[in-house]
Amino acid sequence: MIKKMKKFFITATDTDAGKTYVAQAFVNALVGKQYKVAAYKPVSAGCQLIDSQLVNEDALLLAKQANCHQTISQINPIAFEKPIAPHIAAAEMNQEISISLLKAHYSEVVNIQPEIIVTEGAGGWRLPLGNGHYLSEFAQTTNQEVILVVNMKLGCLNHAVLTYQAIINDGLNCVGWIANCQQEMPYLDENISELQKLITAPLLAQLSLEPDISTASSRFDLTPLNL
Ligand SMILES: Nc1ncnc2c1ncn2[C@@H]1O[C@H](COP(=O)(O)OP(=O)(O)OP(=O)(O)O)[C@@H](O)[C@H]1O
Ligand SMILES: [Mg+2]
Repeated sequence: MIKKMKKFFITATDTDAGKTYVAQAFVNALVGKQYKVAAYKPVSAGCQLIDSQLVNEDALLLAKQANCHQTISQINPIAFEKPIAPHIAAAEMNQEISISLLKAHYSEVVNIQPEIIVTEGAGGWRLPLGNGHYLSEFAQTTNQEVILVVNMKLGCLNHAVLTYQAIINDGLNCVGWIANCQQEMPYLDENISELQKLITAPLLAQLSLEPDISTASSRFDLTPLNL
């Protein structure tokens, strides 16, 4: 039993870095420990129209792992059809993605009273929402614990350190990072050891190109999260 609701925000060095994959595995690991876990994907761009509802694949994948019987639109309330930067998709529809709207939808997830909410960001840490705002402000104002997914490839050290520093400078707690090793990388071990020196948060998992979510889930070390 968790006394106070835990709120995790999964960010990454870039789009396609493995946020959904990691979020699925993380939720799977938490559900495996009998926690009541809800998922949230505040905004998505790149959806299919199913029964006159825009459905994002990330939301469908998260719904399969979480255990709070959420609807897809509850997991992902703001969805755009085109796979483009969300603020551009929103402007095309004459819509605004405000932090207060993201928080209002988030409070619906909070109201389910899960023990843990796992939120998957979109893009990287400084995803613009338009009007000078960023998705990072949502994580900040809801005081979430941040998990950083590093897509292990040449150039990731710079992206990882910049992202980590931005999270810390925003006053948030980066509670861990994931080395997501989806592709061959020369000197992978050396790069991971370097990141372990540069990022003071613990390495929660090192994932290879995993065959399925339950295998990926078994690679997580949840102990540093103090659940
Ligand atoms: N460790 C892994 N093992 C196997 N497949 C992976 C792994 N990491 C990522 N993938 C696959 O790589 C692709 C991109 O990953 P994913 O969708 O998780 O990225 P993302 O950061 O969520 O992207 P987006 O910014 O679009 O939300 C997906 O098809 C995912 O299943
Ligand atoms: Mg995703």
